[in-house]
Amino acid sequence: MSLERPHGPTSRWPWGLLPTFHRDPLTLLERVGRRYPSMAALPFGPWTLYLATGDKAVADVLRTHKDHFRKGPGMEAKNPLIGQGMLLSEGDLWREQRRAIMPVFSHNAIKAYHAAIAHEVNVGAQKFFSAASVDAGVFGRYLALAVTLSTLFGLSPKDELISRLGESTSQVMEHFHHRARSLYRPPYAWPKAFNGAFHQSSDVLRAFVEPLLDRPNTPLLEILAQSPPDRRAQEALTFLIAGHETTGNALAWTIRLLADHPEVVERVSQEAEGGLVYSEAVVLESLRLFPPVWLLSRTAIQNVEVDHYHLAAGSQFLVSPWVTHRLESYYPEAESFLPERWLDGGEIKRTRTDYRFLAFGGGPRRCPGEEFALAELSLAVANICRRWRLRSREPFPSPTPGMTLSPRGGLEILACPR
Ligand code: HEM
Repeated sequence: MSLERPHGPTSRWPWGLLPTFHRDPLTLLERVGRRYPSMAALPFGPWTLYLATGDKAVADVLRTHKDHFRKGPGMEAKNPLIGQGMLLSEGDLWREQRRAIMPVFSHNAIKAYHAAIAHEVNVGAQKFFSAASVDAGVFGRYLALAVTLSTLFGLSPKDELISRLGESTSQVMEHFHHRARSLYRPPYAWPKAFNGAFHQSSDVLRAFVEPLLDRPNTPLLEILAQSPPDRRAQEALTFLIAGHETTGNALAWTIRLLADHPEVVERVSQEAEGGLVYSEAVVLESLRLFPPVWLLSRTAIQNVEVDHYHLAAGSQFLVSPWVTHRLESYYPEAESFLPERWLDGGEIKRTRTDYRFLAFGGGPRRCPGEEFALAELSLAVANICRRWRLRSREPFPSPTPGMTLSPRGGLEILACPR
């Protein structure tokens, strides 16, 4: 094995850049990504982490050598809520789960959801946007849950259910984030005093999903109901959580960006009824600037070559959509919100699926909900811009890098009917 290793910043402290990473990971990773094209080594005390930023390095990790990797340390199969679900499972179990659910997310299946999604968007927008001011964060989470529940879980969701599931999801996500950052992870089975809020919220989520699996009434639930009893709730909750947390944050960012760009709102509003190309460009640009999944992690399970570097089994890798999306070499004027960059004549550029755009990951573990999320977000953008003008009231929020990238503060906007 060659000795060639990626370069990277150094540190004179025993814990290396770990404290800096914990304090402000976005700034640190972005700085490192700009300075070291393709790959960088990050000294984290006794460990070295490799940050893959260039498209070749990212493709090597996520696709070319996919069998040399497992998900990284924060992604635990022993997680009692979703560990056996498709986001965290590995090997044959993952392959079987992925094969089983893919028909639910096929192009035609998503098309069939369009009307239901548009209905939820209109009901939700009417409810929130008629008020004097709108919190884009609350609206985004509400709508994403309403859409997930009505399409994938076959319910006509009531406000009480949406807020109960939304709060429980936030609690468990906070717990996952805290655990992923911790060097020591107490066993889940320890007394509830250690993990109290997590267990309580998990109970709420399980109690919600179990009866639905007893009487499945959507294609997704019908498939998941066939899984063994000890697994099926974990599989269903994976879709509930992965399906709405990310999309809710994406919607909040998108609406906030629109409120700062009235010219974009106007252009969307002029798109012909039923046309969604420009709306989708708006969504892609929002996902580029504020990718809800801002960090992916992988562990090499055998020696591996990434770009032209040779790295040993056990090496830890990070792929950061946040960093790659802000490289000027890939996205000129990377800090600016320019939906037009995604347009190619009357269509969306094919670069959406290359390894420079990573909002949905890449390779065989790429997000299966991508088309669903894009449909939901584009329909929301189109319907909102056609009926409302938006204005911001506060300075633009800064991103908070938790399990997902959420906006902190600054989400109050004004909506006025056309
Ligand atoms: C804007 C919205 C969304 C974003 C940004 C997003 C992002 C991602 C990313 C980056 C991954 C790959 C993680 C990795 O490789 O480690 C992923 C995986 C996944 N996503 Fe999404 N997602 C979104 C919406 C959805 C929706 C709507 C669903 C389902 C209803 C969903 C279900 C999943 C599942 C089940 C996986 C695991 C796939 C596997 O490991 O094979 N996601 N998502």
